[in-house]
Amino acid sequence: MVLIAKRGTVPPTPHTEFYAIPGVLALEEIHGSYGFSGPWSRKVHVRSYPTEQVSAPCRGDFDLAPSFPPEADLLQPHHIRTGRMPYEKDAVRGRRTVVSGPRTALSIAKPSEDMPKDTFFRNGERHEVYFVQDGEGTFRTEYGDLRFRKDVYVAIPKGTTYRVELDTDHAWFLVVESVYPIQFAPQYFNKAGQATLMSPVVETEVELPELPPYRDERGEFPVDAKFGGGKITRITLGHHPFDLVGWEGALYPFVFDIRSHHGIAREIHTAPPMHQTFQSGNVPNNGFSLCSFVPVMQGWHPKEVPAPYAHFNVDSDELMFFCNMAYEARKGVIEEGSFTFHPGAAPHSPQGQAALKSLADRGTVSPRLAVMLDTYFESMRITTDGWAFRDPEYVLSWAESRAPTQAAGPGWESPSA
Ligand SMILES: [Fe+2]
Repeated sequence: MVLIAKRGTVPPTPHTEFYAIPGVLALEEIHGSYGFSGPWSRKVHVRSYPTEQVSAPCRGDFDLAPSFPPEADLLQPHHIRTGRMPYEKDAVRGRRTVVSGPRTALSIAKPSEDMPKDTFFRNGERHEVYFVQDGEGTFRTEYGDLRFRKDVYVAIPKGTTYRVELDTDHAWFLVVESVYPIQFAPQYFNKAGQATLMSPVVETEVELPELPPYRDERGEFPVDAKFGGGKITRITLGHHPFDLVGWEGALYPFVFDIRSHHGIAREIHTAPPMHQTFQSGNVPNNGFSLCSFVPVMQGWHPKEVPAPYAHFNVDSDELMFFCNMAYEARKGVIEEGSFTFHPGAAPHSPQGQAALKSLADRGTVSPRLAVMLDTYFESMRITTDGWAFRDPEYVLSWAESRAPTQAAGPGWESPSA
């Protein structure tokens, strides 16, 4: 994160003597990324290091390692209907990875219950961003509590210990994982680390964790750590993991409302980088760009074609989650929660007469809402869970474009109006 934050109490000079409880030396921990070179935070534990295990680590009672069908190696676009996946388990145990690569994974979690009482999760191998398609509740983390609601991103740095509790009967998450830290797109910030006046995102619109009083409790506290390609190791701490007196730094979980991505319009069609919110890794050499397709006025040039062009981005796989059905280029094909996967090894385009129909939308604001992720130099594969919920007709859904061109609704009769 570009915004340095502080919660609770920390000594003003790092690595100096500090007591929250008289006579009990507080203990400092650095939570770092890119070794000691990337964004980091300084955490002050009330009395214990986070290394105190009271029983030997063991295999967890669940597993998040993806499997792949034989068809995963067949080059084709995919449409996965995540709205048809069941609500089940909790936010972690119910996670189903639908597309996975060496450094990035996308999953769906549709929990119908809280995580088991006094158990915690830690992704030890990938940073995470949850996009909330539905539901409300709280991410309780060692950095504090983050309330979530529909249409927000919840960013959780790799190594953060947390649990998810629901206020609603169920929730629906798109979960993005990356080996690299996930941050706002760096080109939006000036040399002082402040969002420029032309940026679609403003760093001060993030929602920060609220740190409750520290838990100074002894006992056995299980933390299920994801490690080794999705396998779970159960670690048992001898003290409550939420024992911070305070923290400060630039690496912490936060919430960002997708509607705080303030879209920028152009007279003619705008390429997806205009919609970028987050980046992971060293784009465009590795990692991904994460884009928010929020309502934006479509091009108003008198001959503008609002529908996108066909594109063949050979170094990127495109992964897109549709929050509603209002995305013009896929109308009639998608439903709420549709997830499309277009491998970079093949071009893709709007379906059928979408370009022609879009002429009527010139200069209007679409109610669309979608999240898109483009990987760089990383080929993704559909998983067994993704394959189980795919639309088998999707690869043929462009075939209708061979039909004779015909008038296509209001506005077509005078396209240059
Ligand atoms: Fe595309």
